[in-house]
Amino acid sequence: MKYLALSLLFLWSIVPGSAAERDGIRIVPRPAAVEELPGSFRLTSRMRIVVGDERLRSIAEILARAVETQTGLSPVVAAEPDGPAVTLRLDPGFETEEYRLEVTKRGAVVSASTPQGVLHGVRSLQQLIADGEVPACIVRDKPCFAYRGAMLDVCRHFFPVEEVKTFIDLLSLHKINRFHWHLTDDQGWRIEIRKYPLLTRIGSRRSETLVGYYRKNGDNTYDGTPYGGYYTQDDIREIVRYAAERHIEVIPEIEMPGHGLAALAAYPYLGCTGGPYEVWTRWGVSEDVYCAGKESTFRFVEDVLAEVMELFPSKLIHIGGDECPKGRWKKCPLCQRRMREEGLKNEFELQSYFVRRVERWVQSHGREIVGWDEILQGGVSKTATVMSWNGTGPGIKAARQGNPVIMTPKWYCYFDYSQTSDPERYEPLGNTRYVSVRQAYRLDPYDQLRLPERERIMGVQCNLWTEYVADMKRVQHMVLPRMAALAEVGWAYDRKDYDDFVRRIPALVSVYRAEGYHFAPYLFDGIE
Ligand code: ACM
Ligand code: ZN
Repeated sequence: MKYLALSLLFLWSIVPGSAAERDGIRIVPRPAAVEELPGSFRLTSRMRIVVGDERLRSIAEILARAVETQTGLSPVVAAEPDGPAVTLRLDPGFETEEYRLEVTKRGAVVSASTPQGVLHGVRSLQQLIADGEVPACIVRDKPCFAYRGAMLDVCRHFFPVEEVKTFIDLLSLHKINRFHWHLTDDQGWRIEIRKYPLLTRIGSRRSETLVGYYRKNGDNTYDGTPYGGYYTQDDIREIVRYAAERHIEVIPEIEMPGHGLAALAAYPYLGCTGGPYEVWTRWGVSEDVYCAGKESTFRFVEDVLAEVMELFPSKLIHIGGDECPKGRWKKCPLCQRRMREEGLKNEFELQSYFVRRVERWVQSHGREIVGWDEILQGGVSKTATVMSWNGTGPGIKAARQGNPVIMTPKWYCYFDYSQTSDPERYEPLGNTRYVSVRQAYRLDPYDQLRLPERERIMGVQCNLWTEYVADMKRVQHMVLPRMAALAEVGWAYDRKDYDDFVRRIPALVSVYRAEGYHFAPYLFDGIE
């Protein structure tokens, strides 16, 4: 009899009745430990989301909206249960982002020691909902890397506040905890600075935009349509607050000394030649950069950063630093005088002077800088965080010399690159270089590093440059589902398994569908 009961139990667990049970526990990024239990929790219209602590109320509201979107049920948030419930709890004994999710037939409990951890548990729970049920299980989970970022370029194309919030929603769903906001570039200045009103009055608007790819032979077409947009300081505060409610830190990027043409167009004294300059109407890298010889350039940079630091509480302030052509500096008497006076051997050292000087100022205001890997040119301080985009090589070099590093090598992390090997067919008029989901998944943030240098790797980031990404639908198409791959590298590096990722991702895609997100279908159509 005992034997019969046991075998019936066994049969029951291998021939589950519902979709939730049949498909098992599918969560992206992969949790640290999963125990599947028999049975499932059926969500009902009477179900409550119970918060044991008022600090969890906004997360409970996020879950309530997600449940409504995914199931059509409208659970209420309450302090006490009244029947089946999802309970959100703060318990000591967890690491910062760690959580535990337990689902039984009677309900679900998410526990963590921080609201951030609870939200991660909620994001996992969301993926387990199938046909109004959640399979019974116990999940214990925590991230491998503390920094898991995504960058959005709002300069080449501008995205209004509500769309930026949608982008932040995508990050939150993937347990990404940093939003790197690329706010200034040659093609547009997008952040209101009270002290320099022309930055937005002039710098946020270009007269027209290149159509198609740029041709060096000069045979180019422009659309004749002015294009622009910027965020007021109130907009910025709203975005920072929205992200903070989702436990995402916003890291602003103000580009210097290159990619500054929009600022030069507004204030021509910032350039070596004095202008006139125009906000750029095409893609590429402008030769006109901030003059490193003038004191007024540094006053401008400091004034701008002072307002930026009022708006953004992040420890890290991104100062760009990439792709700064040196031609203007070579010919500029003021830049050349600066080099003589400071004993700088070449223009790379002048770039290093620029970055170090700005870093000292930022540090004197209690923050740290992060820059693209070109800040290594001519030498960098040990305290600057390096974002390695030209492969992992610069990051490895920086880690070996003791700098904190964020790995974002373009051959894995540039989500403006095509998602298939046949870009002309599937994604015409985009970046023709190629990063498939599988390729994004292959990233090894440590690459050749061993301990103790591995400790310098803070994490990973994906980047979306938007030359060929004009609207939020396209943004979603470019980042989904590659963001899931990157998220898994950052969260679950030690348990990465591509075949298992492919098995689990349909559950996340169900959430994409419910939310109405546009995602690239190639992975699911067997196209690479
Ligand atoms: C970059 O792609 N220029 C950072
Ligand atoms: Zn100069």
